[in-house]
Amino acid sequence: MKIGNIEITGRAALAPMAGVTDAAFRRVCARFGAAYTVTEMISARAVEFGDKKTWALASMEKDVGPVFLQLFGEDPASMAQAAEKLMELRPAGFDINMGCPVPKIAGNGAGSALMKDPEKCGKIVRAVKEAVDLPVTVKMRAGWDAAHKNAVEVAKCCEQAGADAICVHGRTREEMYRGHADWEIIRAVKEAVRVPVIGNGDVVGAQSARNMLMETGCDMVMVGRGALGNPWVFREINAYLTDSCTILPPPGLSELLVTMRRHMGLMAELKGEGRAMREARKHAAWYLKGLRGAAEFRRRAGQLCTLADLDRLVEDVYKANKETEETL
Ligand SMILES: Cc1cc2nc3c(=O)[nH]c(=O)nc-3n(C[C@H](O)[C@H](O)[C@H](O)COP(=O)(O)O)c2cc1C
Repeated sequence: MKIGNIEITGRAALAPMAGVTDAAFRRVCARFGAAYTVTEMISARAVEFGDKKTWALASMEKDVGPVFLQLFGEDPASMAQAAEKLMELRPAGFDINMGCPVPKIAGNGAGSALMKDPEKCGKIVRAVKEAVDLPVTVKMRAGWDAAHKNAVEVAKCCEQAGADAICVHGRTREEMYRGHADWEIIRAVKEAVRVPVIGNGDVVGAQSARNMLMETGCDMVMVGRGALGNPWVFREINAYLTDSCTILPPPGLSELLVTMRRHMGLMAELKGEGRAMREARKHAAWYLKGLRGAAEFRRRAGQLCTLADLDRLVEDVYKANKETEETL
């Protein structure tokens, strides 16, 4: 499949998640078969002002596979300028955030608030398209609330303005992350536009990925929370979709721990040990969920400060679980 002129291999992408999908996690997921990945959301205004932290957030030198850089903002000119500046980081394309529900973003007219003004959504897409010679995708929700589920209208405006693909998270802004995603609205968008549609919301493994593709007719799925502590989800989905429904077993204990250690080692390389270990705490808790002794290990994960702490934790988790390795 192609998004603009970019060839995409595989049918499951990693969803952008602020505080999660940094270069280290994107790389791990790409290695396990994510078709493409998306950065954490980047503020167009902060890029304009030359904010160093924002540049670091957008950095993608350690990435593998296509990476889309996600921008948020409410002003077409500012979004276009930011995209132009960020070209030097060489993303595969840009993704426009039209889904973020948090008051800090939506309260300023960005993220999901853009969906209240479909015409403006189109203006943003057009401005960014004109500024950069790369594919531009849009990530939206079903709509603002139950009374305003206008994803179809917004998707059409974006397509007309030149969007190369549309991703729909089947919840409204009002729903935040609660309840079930409405896959019907994804199907309606797929029927309304000709560019590729990426379905998002509640895909957590091979079976739900297949269900999403079948029930909505979407071209690809995007996985968010299902990838937390579980980057193997992409390998599982790919095997299930390509090899006549092969169900791969979950990773063994050694693979799990080696992957977690590599992921966090890469974080340390990219951000420095102290900051990386603070940020690694939540990842460690996700990776260790369900293992023997998980409650105590997760408590220790919450106190990680150094790579040496991490190595001791990995060793102790291995010792406590090794006899169950075959059954993991
Ligand atoms: C911790 C977290 C951070 C998120 N950050 C972003 C973001 O920066 N940009 C965005 O478009 N969506 C963001 N999302 C939404 C996800 O990309 C996705 O649309 C949502 O989680 C539904 O997919 P899922 O059911 O596969 O998790 C975030 C979600 C979570 C849980």
